[in-house]
Amino acid sequence: PGEVLLDRRARALRDLRISVTDRCNFRCVYCMPKEVFDKDYAYLPHGSLLSFEEIARLSTVFAQHGTEKLRLTGGEPLLRRQVESLIELLAKIRTPAGKPLDLTLTTNASLLARKARGLAAAGLNRVTVSLDALDDKVFRAMNDVDFPVSEVLRGIDAAAEAGLGPVKVNMVVKRGVNDDQVLPMARYFRGSGHILRFIEYMDVGASNGWNLNEVVPSRTLIEQLSEIAPLVPVAAAYSGEVAERWRYTDGSGEIGVISSVTQAFCGTCTRARLSTDGKLYLCLFADQGYDLKTLLRNGADDTTLATAMAGIWQQRNDNYSERRSADTQRANKIEMSYIGG
Ligand code: GTP
Ligand code: 5AD
Ligand code: SF4
Ligand code: SF4
Repeated sequence: PGEVLLDRRARALRDLRISVTDRCNFRCVYCMPKEVFDKDYAYLPHGSLLSFEEIARLSTVFAQHGTEKLRLTGGEPLLRRQVESLIELLAKIRTPAGKPLDLTLTTNASLLARKARGLAAAGLNRVTVSLDALDDKVFRAMNDVDFPVSEVLRGIDAAAEAGLGPVKVNMVVKRGVNDDQVLPMARYFRGSGHILRFIEYMDVGASNGWNLNEVVPSRTLIEQLSEIAPLVPVAAAYSGEVAERWRYTDGSGEIGVISSVTQAFCGTCTRARLSTDGKLYLCLFADQGYDLKTLLRNGADDTTLATAMAGIWQQRNDNYSERRSADTQRANKIEMSYIGG
């Protein structure tokens, strides 16, 4: 206990992303397309979801072995009933050095205006909001449930007011779909105190029909964005940060680019993902996970859990994004809505 676990590529397990539901009230075309996630789609039955106590128990064991950051994801995490109670449990966890964990959440913000204060009161530190367009028509078409952009913008501001800022706003850029929204989004968020980050569209899951031509390289974006105001690079906030940071030289704020396709960052990937039903996945592009729920429900004690977790992490060798060109056709990749972003 207390010793830092390393995988086969000498990466520690610092960041645990926990999917708390596989459901979402949006049908983003690149993530949960309607044709696949229709009314007959078989979501996980309630009994197979990890309970809040089970999630907190596993998180405690992870924290004892080097994990410093927890991110709740989904699906849409705010759809999980009373997720505030889970946050209260997670906020009590300490590292061996006695520090609380960095506790955050990725949301589509549809329920955020309503929930921001309660989440902050429960002990959430910050939020990241997914938003792919500023134009209401484009946004409604992308979420494919006709959800208005104004409500998301209200959610972002409510989060900042509740002390959950600076809010990071994630925009997945898909060529021909929302690339015309890059400049309007940048202009809107410049000077707002929120941090906009552009994500290269990735081939996650098996249902989004990904094509390399639909990826807009971050390089291109930085060139375009420099037209708004000059940009200079900023040093990473911590080692292994996923986003490359840039700031406007006139002091109007910061943006980021996440270049998982054109500049893979597997070398410093310290992330593990816990699925809604309690399987541990070692990569966003994994095709199988390691069942921790059965172990939990069979009454394993903390030492047994820690040993199992260590065994799984120490044999990890994943680096999918570095090998993508040779390996994109891999089948059976799990969906992002199930494993979390
Ligand atoms: P903070 O710096 O703590 O705010 O979080 P973060 O930079 O990890 O950002 P976030 O969790 O919001 O991730 C942003 C996006 O980057 C995700 O939605 C994914 O699209 C992508 N991403 C994050 N982690 C990985 C990863 O391990 N592999 C790949 N390929 N993409 C990732
Ligand atoms: N490529 C890149 N990012 C994606 N996300 C979902 N699907 C993809 C994809 N194919 C992002 C969402 C959100 C987070 C959960 O993951 O936009 O920010
Ligand atoms: Fe829901 Fe987020 Fe996926 Fe959109 S990207 S369908 S909001 S989980
Ligand atoms: Fe980590 Fe896999 Fe993403 Fe590479 S592709 S950064 S190993 S999650």
